Amino acid sequence: MSTETTSGQVSGNGASGNQSLTVTDNRTGKTFELPITDGTVKAMDFRQMKAADDDFGLMTYDPAFTNTASCRSAVTFIDGDAGILEYRGYPIEQLAEKSTYVEVAYLLIHGELPTQPQLDKWVHDITVHTFVHENVKSFMQGFRHDAHPMGMLCGSVGALSTFYPDANDIKDPINRNIQTIRLLAKMPTLAAFAYRHGMGQPYVYPDNDLDYPGNFLNMMYKMTELKYQPDPRLARALDILFILHADHEQNCSTSAVRSVGSSQVDPYSAVTAGIAALYGPLHGGANEAVLRMLQRIGSKDKVREFIDGVKAGNEKLMGFGHRVYKNFDPRATIIKKAVDDVFEVTGVNPLLEIALELEKIALEDEYFVSRKLYPNVDFYSGLIYEALGLPTSMFPVMFAIPRTSGWVAQWLEMVQDPEQKIARPRQIYTGDRTRDYVGMGSR
Ligand code: ACO
Repeated sequence: MSTETTSGQVSGNGASGNQSLTVTDNRTGKTFELPITDGTVKAMDFRQMKAADDDFGLMTYDPAFTNTASCRSAVTFIDGDAGILEYRGYPIEQLAEKSTYVEVAYLLIHGELPTQPQLDKWVHDITVHTFVHENVKSFMQGFRHDAHPMGMLCGSVGALSTFYPDANDIKDPINRNIQTIRLLAKMPTLAAFAYRHGMGQPYVYPDNDLDYPGNFLNMMYKMTELKYQPDPRLARALDILFILHADHEQNCSTSAVRSVGSSQVDPYSAVTAGIAALYGPLHGGANEAVLRMLQRIGSKDKVREFIDGVKAGNEKLMGFGHRVYKNFDPRATIIKKAVDDVFEVTGVNPLLEIALELEKIALEDEYFVSRKLYPNVDFYSGLIYEALGLPTSMFPVMFAIPRTSGWVAQWLEMVQDPEQKIARPRQIYTGDRTRDYVGMGSR
């Protein structure tokens, strides 16, 4: 609780010590002492500041939530200035080197690394839920031949809520757990079906002998062979990409999942909101935009001219810049290494040369240096996806598969957080007021 005092005075009953903020409302001369907790003040504490008795009270204005914490979370820590990313306290570099995506998903969702029996059960549960209802397959077949796979993923994950209507019992922890398993298990299946649909190829059923990334490669690329054998180097590179993309605290899509989930809708519908948010070119669609940009530049000698255009404000250098990371994106550093491993199997992509030149010039250029613009995770991930033979439209889908574990971990945290309610921001109304309806003849 905050304490109101009169002009210039701070009440001794308010927040103690120096963990408080003293605010004087110059409209009234009243001074308020607001507690500071965890480096934040509560926006609701400003509501008591009124210009008159019938005033609604002061609000905070923060379009795009650039300086507003919307929740307490113990899932992912980011220090953007220092380039630190940790899941449940474990540095991303260690997880990318030593763990697997499925283990990381367990960590994000349960809060701790699993013991061997816990991991075995987790892997088993996910593996036996990889199949989707046959009607999901027919449903997906109804999409146009050139449907964007991200739109197909959005539609099919949303449709899962109709196959599991019990999923709306979100207060039951056992129920939440089974929907969690289903979402993690079925996401690669739906993603691969969307890909095969666009290629005009028959959908491939999951192979439960394979691990998570290996099975995904099987569902993407199996043709006439009786048993698909994934290249272990490609499967590992894919697993690393999955680990790097698993969570990123309160980004646009996660906020969408939390916001939609706050209405207590089922998790399939909430995760669908996340997929929709991730579809946009400023978020998960950026890797697609990077590839298109590299293709358009065409050759290394055109890079300088392109950079000049970016500096003149003609367009953005896609895959550069981040709302949070202002020194480097730790995921970009790890991905750059994975690029080499993949190219060892697939052969070098000529676009890599353009990407390296762009990075070199931009990192030395005053425009990018002064704005703290560095390569983000999407700058290199697109090159790996292309080397895997994926069309650019599949790139955001490749992001959505692993981000599902983060979305679900954040959703689980949100539905169990007693401080959370239905998300409902305020507005500053800028329109007309109380006008008389004008008949058609008088307009
Ligand atoms: N190329 C050129 N200039 C840029 C770029 C860029 N990629 N990004 C930012 N800037 C410039 C802006 O024009 C602005 O310049 P100004 O101060 O002269 O007006 C300045 O840098 C600050 O940029 P903001 O837009 O305020 O930064 P913000 O934090 O809002 O945006 C964002 C972050 C959206 C990621 C932005 O950098 C961008 O659009 N990058 C390209 C798209 C991209 O790669 N997105 C992927 C992000 S990672 C992810 O979602 C997984």
